[in-house]
Amino acid sequence: MPVIYPGSFDPVTNGHLDIIKRCSNKFDKVIVAVLNNTSKNVLFTIEERIKMLEMTVKEYDNVEVDTFSGLLIDYAKEKNVTTMVRGLRAVSDFEYEMQMALANRKLFSDIETLFMVSNSEYAYLSSSIVKEIASFNGDVSCLVPKVVNEALKQKLKGGK
Ligand code: PNS
Repeated sequence: MPVIYPGSFDPVTNGHLDIIKRCSNKFDKVIVAVLNNTSKNVLFTIEERIKMLEMTVKEYDNVEVDTFSGLLIDYAKEKNVTTMVRGLRAVSDFEYEMQMALANRKLFSDIETLFMVSNSEYAYLSSSIVKEIASFNGDVSCLVPKVVNEALKQKLKGGK
């Protein structure tokens, strides 16, 4: 069964990678779908986010990185994939995730959202936390892939 793993990935973290790796073991194909909506305030461009993902998932043969804009269900229809995976870190994620899953199913009744419980090691980890720490020159090398660590240093050079 193919699945879509959607997100902003601004930038990809070790928590995302853990979910991708586990999905790659459980499903035939994993499409990591990076949101390209101009309304979202992002640090990395869509090209940068895709490149960093591609570099970090290249060891998984059944994982592909793609981008989408607009509604996720329209992208799912276009790809002919009706299963989506989202990671759940803590109870605080649940309300938003539940709302999204229900809204998506209302819009497209074939869609199923599967929740994968994050590794406890990454339960606190998010792209926002990574950006916050990095913006104050904190060390995020154990939270993100090497390529992201380097990209953050470049991006934030000369910043706060
Ligand atoms: O990594 P994120 O930011 O938590 O991912 C959120 C994402 C990209 C899955 C969500 O914002 C999304 O699907 N956006 C596309 C627009 C859409 O379909 N919205 C309706 C869902 S209620």
